[in-house]
Amino acid sequence: MNQFDFDASIDRRGTDSLKWDKYKDRRILPLWVADMDFPSPPAVMRALHARVDHGIFGYTLPPAQLRKVICRRMERKYHWKIAPEWIVFLPGLVTGLNVACRAVGAPGDTVMTFLPVYPPFLKAPGLSGRRLMEVALIKNREGNWVMDLDALKKALSPAIKLLLLCSPHNPTGRVYHRSELEALAELCRKNGTVICSDEIHCDLILEHGRNHLPTAAVNPQMAEHIITLMAPSKTYNIPGLGASFAVIAGADLRKRFQQTMEGIVPSVNILGFTAALAAYTRGEKWLQALIRYLRRNRDLVETEINTMPGLSMTHVEATYLAWIDCRGAGLENPAAFFESAGVGLSEGRDFGAPGFLRLNFACRRVTLKVCLEKMRQALEKNNQRRRSSSKSKT
Ligand SMILES: Cc1ncc(COP(=O)(O)O)c(C=O)c1O
Repeated sequence: MNQFDFDASIDRRGTDSLKWDKYKDRRILPLWVADMDFPSPPAVMRALHARVDHGIFGYTLPPAQLRKVICRRMERKYHWKIAPEWIVFLPGLVTGLNVACRAVGAPGDTVMTFLPVYPPFLKAPGLSGRRLMEVALIKNREGNWVMDLDALKKALSPAIKLLLLCSPHNPTGRVYHRSELEALAELCRKNGTVICSDEIHCDLILEHGRNHLPTAAVNPQMAEHIITLMAPSKTYNIPGLGASFAVIAGADLRKRFQQTMEGIVPSVNILGFTAALAAYTRGEKWLQALIRYLRRNRDLVETEINTMPGLSMTHVEATYLAWIDCRGAGLENPAAFFESAGVGLSEGRDFGAPGFLRLNFACRRVTLKVCLEKMRQALEKNNQRRRSSSKSKT
């Protein structure tokens, strides 16, 4: 029997949930923003209860044990040796992206990223007075989204001081191969471009036989010029607690990053640190059970979406996000269309890809089945309507 019940029904309405309150007064099931509808691991909840029971919430230091735990975790999971002092705690990964944009280069420089991508990647450069340059991911012969390294090579210039990478990739769910990351790191090294590698989804590898590979671990010569961003937030469903970190091996780069944060970026809060430590030390069994559950949800989504008229999606190797190509369905506004059918999805345009939608399948399987059925019925009805209106015109 499964020790952890991901099918349990917990009502999130009325809890100030960003995901659920978007549709507060409407009958729309939310499969959009990337948090999960599952309670965090019991070990996290026990640790939080104990911390709250202490009753004093004064200023806090990062727990020394957490640094050690992170170092051990990186080595055990990813064969990546890091030193405790390379870790810089952050109250959010988006904060890390924005700090990276300000810390590297100067206003007027260019920041590069691949499209589609998690929307804050597209916003952060402009907010820091940098220009944004986008290079599109392409589909290879096997139908996987891959980096277009030739286009990247052509686009690289001395003005490009920073590349924002998302690995594993949100929204496509891609786990990059070692060869891709090695080639990317080498191109950036030669061009003098720092990489900020957002690896927030690193623990959510669904594909059997695939492992996460930190970008900073692939090319020792480049390691000093990489800012890695990670967090327990997606993995253990604690994003509302704001506990994340950067790992920066290069002393100069780390200093610039920390100077940029000074006086602006607050410390991680006590409960965030408490949850992070409990998750990383006592959350592994729960995580393995979660991955099994997510794999089955992924399989369901792929089977259903790929048989819906006009929709298709590529295989999700990591994350709990499905990237759906709706361009064949003849919908003017796909997000609004599915909202009116009762399903709230993320708009592809925000990721730099109009005509696509992102579906978050980290929810109870019954909810997912209901949503997929609503989507299929809406598409079928729409097709019938289109067929009968084209008949009446002829
Ligand atoms: C790639 C990526 N980076 C960062 C974040 C958000 O991180 P945070 O909530 O810690 O700012 C998300 C959330 O969906 C994400 O997918």
